[in-house]
Amino acid sequence: MLSSEKGPIGIFDSGYGGLTILTHIREVMPEYDYLYLGDNARTPYGTRSFQVVYEFTLQCVTKLFEMGCRLVILACNTASAKALRNIQQNDIPLIAPDRRVLGIIRPTAECVGDITKTRHVGLLATPGTVKSLSYPLEIKKLFPEIKVVGEACPIWVPLVENNEADSDGTDYFVKRHIDNLLAKDDKIDTIILGCTHYPLLYNKIRKYVPAHIEIITQGEYVATSLRSYLDRHPDMDSRCTKNGTCKYLTTEDTNIFLPAASIFLHESISAETVSLQDIIDL
Ligand code: DGL
Repeated sequence: MLSSEKGPIGIFDSGYGGLTILTHIREVMPEYDYLYLGDNARTPYGTRSFQVVYEFTLQCVTKLFEMGCRLVILACNTASAKALRNIQQNDIPLIAPDRRVLGIIRPTAECVGDITKTRHVGLLATPGTVKSLSYPLEIKKLFPEIKVVGEACPIWVPLVENNEADSDGTDYFVKRHIDNLLAKDDKIDTIILGCTHYPLLYNKIRKYVPAHIEIITQGEYVATSLRSYLDRHPDMDSRCTKNGTCKYLTTEDTNIFLPAASIFLHESISAETVSLQDIIDL
């Protein structure tokens, strides 16, 4: 049985990308404690099936609960798209009814209505996120008149993780997917970067996106939304510890995790490897 005392806020991602979200959250809420878990041993999630992403995400959320988190943020679009609803509706009531898991698609969808004027929005994301239709569905609930067109960019995550974000060769793949997206709908005036890795490609993306089109990166919206969630849920807020610490966990060897993590973070960190075997064996 999971205890119900206080704990850090859990930040989960399939690998490194959630670090871009964590950075924004810590800027807005530096006083809280955070426990970051990257499932680097099994990344990427973006090309995996619904069932596999759901099972992997549930294992990682359970691990973060076991390590004391009362609130876990799925700082991964693919996990938010493919696993969040199932975990919220079916698993939380059984395994931890007093804990919460939140995703990052809803806060991003909420901000779109104030930004687009043409009501035509483009989405750049992993194949899994695009195929899930989570963004168009979530945006439709809030703004039924907005049309959303998606373009999957399967090679962008490996380019970032291999530290090629600023390489000349990357321009070809960035331009190709932007051209594909804009060819699908020439009224697009707003583009969502719906993958946590893509802010690292921002300069190249900006170069190939016409100047009149707004580009939305999620971090600041997710951070503001989490702040507002905790203000509206003082009960949960009181169960989040506040000593300003941040710990990093990975399912991979730390010798593999740390060099690539430094691409995403502008500080040197230490990390620990965690095993999910006890969760997998349940
Ligand atoms: N973090 C994932 C996302 O935001 C991308 C990486 C992956 O494919 O695992 O969709």
